[in-house]
Amino acid sequence: MPKTTDPKSHPLPTIDVEEFRKVVRSRRSIRRFTDEPVPDSVLDDCLELAMLAPNSSNLQPWSFYVVKTPAIRQQLATACLGQNAAKTAPVLIGIVARTATWRQNSQRNLDEWPDEKLPPIVEKYYSKIAPLHYNQGPLGVFGVLKKGLGLIAGIKKPVPRGPYSVCEMKVWAAKSTALAAQNLMLALRAHGYDSCPMEGFDDHRVRKILGVPGDGQVIMVLAAGRRADNGVYNQQYRFDKEDFIHTL
Ligand SMILES: Cc1cc2nc3c(=O)[nH]c(=O)nc-3n(C[C@H](O)[C@H](O)[C@H](O)COP(=O)(O)O)c2cc1C
Repeated sequence: MPKTTDPKSHPLPTIDVEEFRKVVRSRRSIRRFTDEPVPDSVLDDCLELAMLAPNSSNLQPWSFYVVKTPAIRQQLATACLGQNAAKTAPVLIGIVARTATWRQNSQRNLDEWPDEKLPPIVEKYYSKIAPLHYNQGPLGVFGVLKKGLGLIAGIKKPVPRGPYSVCEMKVWAAKSTALAAQNLMLALRAHGYDSCPMEGFDDHRVRKILGVPGDGQVIMVLAAGRRADNGVYNQQYRFDKEDFIHTL
């Protein structure tokens, strides 16, 4: 896959919505997998597709810890409370949101901008606005200050209302990372493989096993593999959409 997608040299493809529907509708949370490994080429492609998820300011605040080594997988499965999905999957992926990589990734956006000329507005965004926006300062003191200023300025005009704290930075990073997780699950399905997202785990132990840095937040552990015949536990159902969709 190319590192960049230039809209001039990549015209929009024709897409069969029924193929998309097949991917979405056949994805299920799978609780038992066969022993068949997921080929590295498939895993690589799925992870690349995961990283094409939309993400805040293209700051890509995610990390993926791919665990294939049986002994580490076993430890991780135990930390995932011994869930069958974790115990049977040939690969487990720790999906981690990062709150402290925004600064280095701002710089990477400046360094790796794909066009020859960096637009001034982009330069300004990553060098001036992003630091203002995402830096919460020591003990979150800048965040408190920004919140106060925002409350005053916001009386007269719309202003950004955060992230104003380390806690809000966690939500900020989790949003983008969860979207990448969904891309990953759909990509696995499109390749004929399956997954189970898990938040049922011992966070302390999972962090230790994976070696997650201090600013990392384990959003979920994803079990991935080929679904076993008894891998689906129940029929898929959702509540009435009228209860959830609000059209204004
Ligand atoms: C954030 C998140 C955490 C989840 N944690 C677990 C888990 O720990 N164990 C599990 O078996 N399923 C877990 N699931 C799967 C849900 O139970 C499942 O998505 C839901 O029941 C709907 O079923 P479906 O995915 O087959 O449509 C999780 C799903 C999400 C999105």
